[in-house]
Amino acid sequence: MAMSGENRKFARIKRMMKEQEIILSEHLEQTLSETVGKVDCDRLFVLTDETTLRLCWPLVGGLACMQEAQMITIRATDENKTLDSLAHVWTALQQGGATRHSLLVCLGGGMVTDLGGFAASTFKRGIAYINVPTTLLAMVDASVGGKTGINFGGLKNEVGVFNPARTVVLDTEFLRTLDYENLASGYAEMLKHGLISNVENWAELLRFDLHRVDYRALGQLVAKSVAIKERIVGEDPLEHGIRKALNLGHTVGHAFESLAMMENRTVLHGYAVAWGLVCELYLSAKRTGFPTDRMHQTAQFVRETYGTFAFTCKHYDRLYELMTHDKKNTAGQVNFTLLGNVGDIRINQTATREEIMEMLDYYRES
Ligand code: GLY
Repeated sequence: MAMSGENRKFARIKRMMKEQEIILSEHLEQTLSETVGKVDCDRLFVLTDETTLRLCWPLVGGLACMQEAQMITIRATDENKTLDSLAHVWTALQQGGATRHSLLVCLGGGMVTDLGGFAASTFKRGIAYINVPTTLLAMVDASVGGKTGINFGGLKNEVGVFNPARTVVLDTEFLRTLDYENLASGYAEMLKHGLISNVENWAELLRFDLHRVDYRALGQLVAKSVAIKERIVGEDPLEHGIRKALNLGHTVGHAFESLAMMENRTVLHGYAVAWGLVCELYLSAKRTGFPTDRMHQTAQFVRETYGTFAFTCKHYDRLYELMTHDKKNTAGQVNFTLLGNVGDIRINQTATREEIMEMLDYYRES
């Protein structure tokens, strides 16, 4: 029987997701040389932002395989994940003579891998790209699983496509270049992976001391975290079902992030997710029976690690409105992923406006 368009797309993406090679590298130079060498490309482009150009490119720029690379650099930070930056990358590819057989290496954090992946996926209807994530957030989340895109119209990741990188090269040596805030930001996604997996992973994450980082232990936690994401994405690459588990904390987190953006406050993505996790665990306790002791333990860890997001009841309507714009919503209802317990995932949950207001009260008061 012939497959429908949607099923064909699903089968193609699922196959690509299975083929997305994730390499836990211990020797960056060797891994990258082999990875780039395997791709039969006519031209090589490397995308960085201004920060990774300065801090990370020197670690790989001397490799023989990089000698012919044409550099494309965009401004750093999520505010620059825009149509203008995207157009800059498209223009650089075009002026550099990129063809369908060219390769783009995205060297940077989630902003670079999201935007670079989208640029590669759309240029001449798609060229190959490799992600070399340099932040914890990009390693455990953004660079893996094929979500690409940009912010648009004041909303996060509003425009994009699912299209996995051919290879993701993870090298935890880059983590040593990160400050506390950027480590903590990525760690929030790991905490989310702990919450949706099992009590052992969750408890191990709560015990880890981010103020005195044991990089070897962190590397092991990263490998576990990526494996959790890979398993879920492999089952449901287009987010029709279980992949929604990865949205835990994000419905509220994105609203916090968008509010901060509107008020020109700088909030790292992971911080917003961590605060969003606390809110959504409150909803989970209320609606799906999440144990309150585990909610309090997680909230305490989040408070100690991330502080709190400052807002007043004057912001409630705006936050609610932002939640109603979330891509995950259907039929005008705010969609949440909640938990019945650690590892007990309940997708497609809703909450009333009153419950959401109550959740915001709880967050501010706790
Ligand atoms: N960041 C959530 C996902 O990749 O689905």
